[in-house]
Amino acid sequence: MSKIAVIYWSGTGNTEAMARAVAEGAIAAGAAAELFNVSEMTPEAALGYDALALGCPAMGAETLEEAEFEPFFSALERRISGKKTALFGSYGWGDGQWMRDWYERAENAGAALCGPGGLMVNEVPDDAGLAACRNLGAALAG
Ligand SMILES: Cc1cc2nc3c(=O)[nH]c(=O)nc-3n(C[C@H](O)[C@H](O)[C@H](O)COP(=O)(O)O)c2cc1C
Repeated sequence: MSKIAVIYWSGTGNTEAMARAVAEGAIAAGAAAELFNVSEMTPEAALGYDALALGCPAMGAETLEEAEFEPFFSALERRISGKKTALFGSYGWGDGQWMRDWYERAENAGAALCGPGGLMVNEVPDDAGLAACRNLGAALAG
């Protein structure tokens, strides 16, 4: 059984709702998925999982959240080569530049990325957004 860690940062709960749906989708597809706030996880522990779903909203000016998520991802990035990984997050007024930059970083680091890009949802995920999150979890489990 594939062991998946869903690791997220969320200020107002939108990316957290996405994370819960990603975990649900992975579990429904037969994986053992666990949900972690990034503050509860270390890069070392994350690398012990078969696959990672990483969630962070657009913050700053099209950046990852800088206090907790960016330091976590920068450390993970150096060792993520070959790891099956999915990226997701919520955004507001932008056009998704934070996700394109993040996806490119993960790609350059050699992560085995799930999907042609990261999964983005505008603000609160609606039913279609939650379904896309469940599908991402299922794809990561497969
Ligand atoms: C400090 C701050 C900076 C933000 N910067 C951006 C941004 O650069 N681009 C964007 O599209 N949305 C930006 N947003 C909007 C959030 O990405 C959006 O509200 C998102 O749904 C928050 O997700 P969360 O509930 O998981 O924290 C920002 C929000 C805050 C509070």
